[in-house]
Amino acid sequence: MDNSINTIINEVMKMAHNKVETSILELSYILASILFIVGLKRLSHPEKARSGNILAAVGMVLAIVLTIFFHKMDGTGIKNIPLIIAALAIGTVLGWVSARKVKMTAMPQMVSIFNGMGGACAALISLMEFPHIKPELIRMTGMANGHTLAILLGLVIGGVSFAGSMIAFGKLDEKIKDVKSPLLKYFNLVMLAVIIAGVVYIMTLSSMPEMYIVYILVALALLYGVFFVLPIGGADMPVVISLLNSFTGVAAACGGFLYGNQAMLTGGILVGSSGTILTILMCKAMNRSLLNVIVGAFGGSSAAGGANDGDKTVKEISLSDAAVLLSYSQKVFIVPGYGLAVAQAQHTCHELDVLLESKGVELKYAIHPVAGRMPGHMNVLLAEADVPYTKLVEMEDANSEMSNTDVVIVIGANDVVNPAAEDDPSSPIYGMPIIKALDAKNVIVIKRSMAKGYAAIENNLFYHPKNRMLFGDAKAALQQLIAEIKSM
Ligand code: TAP
Repeated sequence: MDNSINTIINEVMKMAHNKVETSILELSYILASILFIVGLKRLSHPEKARSGNILAAVGMVLAIVLTIFFHKMDGTGIKNIPLIIAALAIGTVLGWVSARKVKMTAMPQMVSIFNGMGGACAALISLMEFPHIKPELIRMTGMANGHTLAILLGLVIGGVSFAGSMIAFGKLDEKIKDVKSPLLKYFNLVMLAVIIAGVVYIMTLSSMPEMYIVYILVALALLYGVFFVLPIGGADMPVVISLLNSFTGVAAACGGFLYGNQAMLTGGILVGSSGTILTILMCKAMNRSLLNVIVGAFGGSSAAGGANDGDKTVKEISLSDAAVLLSYSQKVFIVPGYGLAVAQAQHTCHELDVLLESKGVELKYAIHPVAGRMPGHMNVLLAEADVPYTKLVEMEDANSEMSNTDVVIVIGANDVVNPAAEDDPSSPIYGMPIIKALDAKNVIVIKRSMAKGYAAIENNLFYHPKNRMLFGDAKAALQQLIAEIKSM
């Protein structure tokens, strides 16, 4: 009698204990979700971005740690905790060291790799969970249930995101060249159709299929990821990068749905939806259609466009002339580009801007949405140098002010001011809006040579009578310019 009472009391205690643990876990997920949302909100402002990042990271650590210790499935906790902790430790060290070591200019590549890892995780989760779909669920619904769909979507989207991000990494690192072929567009369309058909086929089955069918599906997703990013080049990479980000978010959200894990679901939805919004904004900014991105058919040929037609002369400007022109201007716009990041000239650039303002010049920065190599690259770069956010003007607004601007200084930018985007239909950047530097009264371009930009095309702005080149590394040229202005 005593024994059975004890057993009942023990059982009740155990149940109460489990209930408390589950409640703590659920509360931690809600808290983590709130931290993700607040963190994301803060990321939208350079001054608050650092704290936003930390808040989101705290949310993630909270969700991971409490899941490891409190998650229960059918009454049993997570197994292999030492292995999980070892994997987490290795990942943390690798991530920490590479993030500290990475050069600012290699940041876009790193973001691509990290994004690809997220996709790979989601695909691996699906691959592992597929054979464990509960037989009783399959008996009730066949394979047509939300669980199977979440697994298959995580598998396919995660696979595409992983393979695509690896190719994007290779391209940003200039290790992989664009592969252009008119057939690729059709090949990609067919592959996309086959993948969708594969998912639909599995969903219509009444029993668990052989695993090789799932392996074929993941292989196709990986191939598609490779082939849809391979032809993308020139000015179209930014759209693809943000699309791949959103894919990873959606794939992670599928994992969250699968495990009923609210933190993973919220995190995935936030990344997926913000990535999708960014993709749509990028498409609009670049005048591209989303369908074209998905089948990997963008722009024209990278060899075409902006050809060097005939005699064209390049005018240079001396440091003293540039100093005089700038000092006696009323209004100046700086157009920063990838070269500013390469030269790490953001602090020197800010120094010039403060110096000119002390002389009564009104100075602002014209920010092109795809300047640099990652979304918001110029904003981050200039924030690092404490350039007030209010001085950064978006492209459309800057363009509307160009006609009453005395000088535009283009620093390490090329494609984003290339008039071929407006007047050469054969150009791979045709249709992309640009910063209309030529609408200003004078243009000074600071770069090291006549070398091309990311889209690998000639830029006729450099030969325009209004433009004068100040050749040199951006940091060195700006330092000399500052010294010249100070000596006036
Ligand atoms: P780019 O067109 O790539 O031009 C950068 C210019 O900077 C080069 O022509 C280079 O000329 C110059 N440069 C390099 N190092 C320099 C240094 N140390 N000092 C001075 N100048 C230097 O850059 P952009 O105008 O910013 O355009 C961005 C391009 O990248 C677009 O085509 C965009 O589509 C693409 N892209 C963007 C993203 C995102 S998300 N933003 C992602 C992938 C690709 P010199 O060698 O003669 O100096």
